[in-house]
Amino acid sequence: MYISNTLISWYHQHKRDLPWRNTTDPYFIWLSEIILQQTRVEQGRPYYEHFILKYPDVSALAMASTDEVMRSWQGLGYYSRARNLHFAAKQVHNNYNGFFPNSYAELLKLKGVGEYTAAAIASFAFKEASPVLDGNVFRFLSRYFGIHTPINSPKAKKEFIAIASELIDQKNPDVFNQAIMEFGALQCKPQSPNCNKCPFQLSCWALANNKVSELPIKDKKLKRRTRFFNYFILKNEGAHVLRKRTEKDIWQEMYEFPLLETEKEMPEMEVLELAIESKLLSENMEVLKISEKIKHVLSHQDIFARFFEISDPRFQYQNRDKYLYIKDDEISFFALPRLIEAYLQK
Ligand code: ADE
Repeated sequence: MYISNTLISWYHQHKRDLPWRNTTDPYFIWLSEIILQQTRVEQGRPYYEHFILKYPDVSALAMASTDEVMRSWQGLGYYSRARNLHFAAKQVHNNYNGFFPNSYAELLKLKGVGEYTAAAIASFAFKEASPVLDGNVFRFLSRYFGIHTPINSPKAKKEFIAIASELIDQKNPDVFNQAIMEFGALQCKPQSPNCNKCPFQLSCWALANNKVSELPIKDKKLKRRTRFFNYFILKNEGAHVLRKRTEKDIWQEMYEFPLLETEKEMPEMEVLELAIESKLLSENMEVLKISEKIKHVLSHQDIFARFFEISDPRFQYQNRDKYLYIKDDEISFFALPRLIEAYLQK
């Protein structure tokens, strides 16, 4: 009671006013949660605004063409999210008469909706007391209770869900879930959390034991991230097509070829289909060569990369402002990741 009341009252004073927080419509909530997977709030927000205007309800989204949906998604990355989004919209439209299923268990049946997203929709839209577990929640609970279970270990989920289920406000599970995530995002931050102005100063285990910077624990052996990069080397007109990596991610400020990152390993043909669906390549493209899969090991990530050498007369037309077009012999002026450098040298 004490913890949930404190979180909720903190939330009322400090929450960000975000557009998806002023609605209980499951369609809007679902949209926002899918957009915000792997995407920062500031980056996702304009896409959310665009989607709710262009597709005001789930049936509008279901009936839109794949082309249109992919165009709306352009720039957000992880295009399989857009594919799943469109698929799930059709599930709701066809199997549920256009009404979102109203329970955690049913929501899980929608494509692209996992445990976190199902709990978020069930609580925000239907006030079901299903606790959400995201990085923010792990961090707060781990510090507050002094839990040393590595949050990326197999047993962590069960342990933390059990605690969150005890804490969740049964009458206001929606506000509680928003509050605990927002508290983790703004107050109990990963780096330099604001312990000097924290409402839990007297009860937080980590603060009392000087362990705030050590919690939560992540098992380094388990922590490695696996990513799948598909690079397209455009072979037209004696020019190279490059872009700068500006995102907060590996290789910031370096240059790379047009990239399609996927969450899972995909067959070559599916990668090409996705590249066309997402408007990166055009249907007129021709594949000249596909490299072997190359494993590139970084300190915390394993990158599996493939290079597709492509001729695509319509590439420039489709991607006018998004890329640099440089002469072949100018490429040495650009900082390239070692992975790309090594491929070009072969
Ligand atoms: N990130 C994921 N879901 C979110 C939400 N509902 N509010 C703010 N940030 C989020």
